[in-house]
Amino acid sequence: MSHMKSSASAFSGSTRVVTPAGNVAGSLRLPGDKSISHRYAMLAGFAEGISHLTNFSSGADPHSTLACMQQLGAGVERGENGVFTVTGCAGSFQAPQAALDCGNSGSTMRMLAGLLAAQPFTSTLVGDTSLSRRPMERIRMPLTAMGAKLDLTEGHAPVTIHGGPLRGLDYRTPIASAQVKTCLLFAGLQASGTTQVHESVHTRDHGELALRAFGAEVERSKLTVSIQGGQKLHGIDASVPGDLSSAAFFLCAAALFPESNLVLDGVGMNPTRASLLDVLRGLGVRLNVLELSEQHAELVGTLQVLGNPGGLQGAEISGALSAQLIDELPVLAAIAPYTRDGIRIRDARELRVKESDRIALVAQNLRAMGAQVEEFEDGLDVPGGQTLHGAGIDAGDDHRIAMAFAVAALRAVGDTQIHGAESAAISFPEFFEFLDRITER
Ligand code: S3P
Repeated sequence: MSHMKSSASAFSGSTRVVTPAGNVAGSLRLPGDKSISHRYAMLAGFAEGISHLTNFSSGADPHSTLACMQQLGAGVERGENGVFTVTGCAGSFQAPQAALDCGNSGSTMRMLAGLLAAQPFTSTLVGDTSLSRRPMERIRMPLTAMGAKLDLTEGHAPVTIHGGPLRGLDYRTPIASAQVKTCLLFAGLQASGTTQVHESVHTRDHGELALRAFGAEVERSKLTVSIQGGQKLHGIDASVPGDLSSAAFFLCAAALFPESNLVLDGVGMNPTRASLLDVLRGLGVRLNVLELSEQHAELVGTLQVLGNPGGLQGAEISGALSAQLIDELPVLAAIAPYTRDGIRIRDARELRVKESDRIALVAQNLRAMGAQVEEFEDGLDVPGGQTLHGAGIDAGDDHRIAMAFAVAALRAVGDTQIHGAESAAISFPEFFEFLDRITER
């Protein structure tokens, strides 16, 4: 269905043409979860001993983390079977000879800062244009309170960290962010005394689960997580569950077709990540969990999704749900015109400071396809019962925008050109190939 062709427009990179589909069916196994891959890579690099990481994310972002780990003295080798062997630094990184390049990855920059804040050297974290626009004050403030010194440029990268001995912190996060929480737990692991983080929303808990997997004790009581400093980590053998945020694109694609039948194997089903499944059920999609197991306390399952012959209803997404669904909101908004009652999103201001301003870019691209949409400071109203028309989409160098509109294109009238489609590789290089596999025309 889709084919690569070079772009003749003002957009950078490659254009993918997505033609409308008649159905979605088949089965897929997804590459490893991006959030978990980052955390396993960082903790494997920090721990004592050797870790073997299977089904590591194929996305560019977690590979930025692996490259940083190598620069900090960890051994990283990729075996023929795709398994990464990481030899850790036993709690003491080497001072890097050059700036650590986080690429497009906010997770790398924010979480690695937590590990580096306690190391007795100065290091600098840099990123691409998009990452250099994203807010870093959210980590500077609490890490400074723990005793580190961080230099930013007007709140942004480059982030220079003057590391040293840290003291534990009792901190209430002003923004719901798993990256900030994890950053503080990574710093707290090396601080004197206890570090406590109180969240307003139970954000994804992969950081806590990964720390436990590598041997640390982490306590949770309701919305508070705490860690004692001075604990040692040891290497592990782990398999990374399939990425549910990547699966989201195919789940939403299947939701668009009444006769669809899609099976996704080995998908991460951690409850702090799985709110999308509830929203899809609310829209009328039939979802079955065919198998469920646990790997290092991460739930992994086989998911079957069946379209609803009665079509999709509508959804209201606000409050804690918006924070828990933050990465899935672009694709939900992109399919909203095909629902009966539309989708209303609020309390999602954080979308404006992701890899792009995702509220503005979703609205712009929906309008390009001929939809009515109302933009709010913290969300969107996308009415239902609309027809979308194939159009030129600006992915804005944002992987999730490129993939969200490739899904919307499946039920549009006419072909859609996704300009900047190559950005999908930030989290999911196989996306267009997988989409081809499951679409029937
Ligand atoms: C992530 C947390 C979220 C999410 C990002 C990955 C993580 O960001 O949007 O894609 O791995 O912890 P915030 O921590 O900024 O909410």
